[in-house]
Amino acid sequence: MGYVDGQIAEIQLDPSSGLTAWVQCPESAIPPAGRYLAAWSLEDPDAPLAVPLFLQQRGSGGFLTAPSLPASFRPGCALRLRGPLGTGFDLQRIAGRPGTQRSAVRRLALAALDASAARLLPLLDLALEQGAAVALFCDGPLPAIPTAVEIYPTGELAEGLRWADFLALDLPALRLPGLRELLGLSKDEQLPCPAQALVLPPAMPCMGVGACGVCAVPARRGVKLACSQGPVFDLHELDW
Ligand code: FES
Repeated sequence: MGYVDGQIAEIQLDPSSGLTAWVQCPESAIPPAGRYLAAWSLEDPDAPLAVPLFLQQRGSGGFLTAPSLPASFRPGCALRLRGPLGTGFDLQRIAGRPGTQRSAVRRLALAALDASAARLLPLLDLALEQGAAVALFCDGPLPAIPTAVEIYPTGELAEGLRWADFLALDLPALRLPGLRELLGLSKDEQLPCPAQALVLPPAMPCMGVGACGVCAVPARRGVKLACSQGPVFDLHELDW
């Protein structure tokens, strides 16, 4: 996979979760919802590890990243970018799993169990374009959201799961063990609808190479690597 050049056009401060940036880059490099770019600052040679950049909002000639970027990323900073990497959200694919009828999502529940809902916001636009109803479960502050979207605290997610025909989650890997309880599911109880989860590990040192194992997420069969086999997984594939 090749590298492309990019540049930080503007830095914004998200009061709840840190810095975000408008990044200028080729259209083909803009990551779809849930996938990411590995980004190196060319002006910070002391930071050899790449930073993952996730889509929050597409723009002309680039995109707004999700938080949180390092303080060394400043306006005008030149970037080296690789990607898009990993697997992203795919509402159509999971709706058409083997044994199920392929159909459009009609009632989408989005749940952000991290400080920010930013990585889920591109799905919101996609679902509204398809005419789906959307409920967003989030405890943190939100940017301007279309009034058609209903917003609830994450404590009401169990009820939302009974309403939804598709669930998209964003959560730190550390919150997987408590997920069943949050969803109101008893031990061994099946999910009532298809669900995908963006599971973010504490770190991704080799970022997409799959060589270090640091990003391993517990799965039904062993582990899965968030950097290359995720970070978006069908939830039934994981151990939670
Ligand atoms: S970050 Fe090294 S295997 Fe995923």
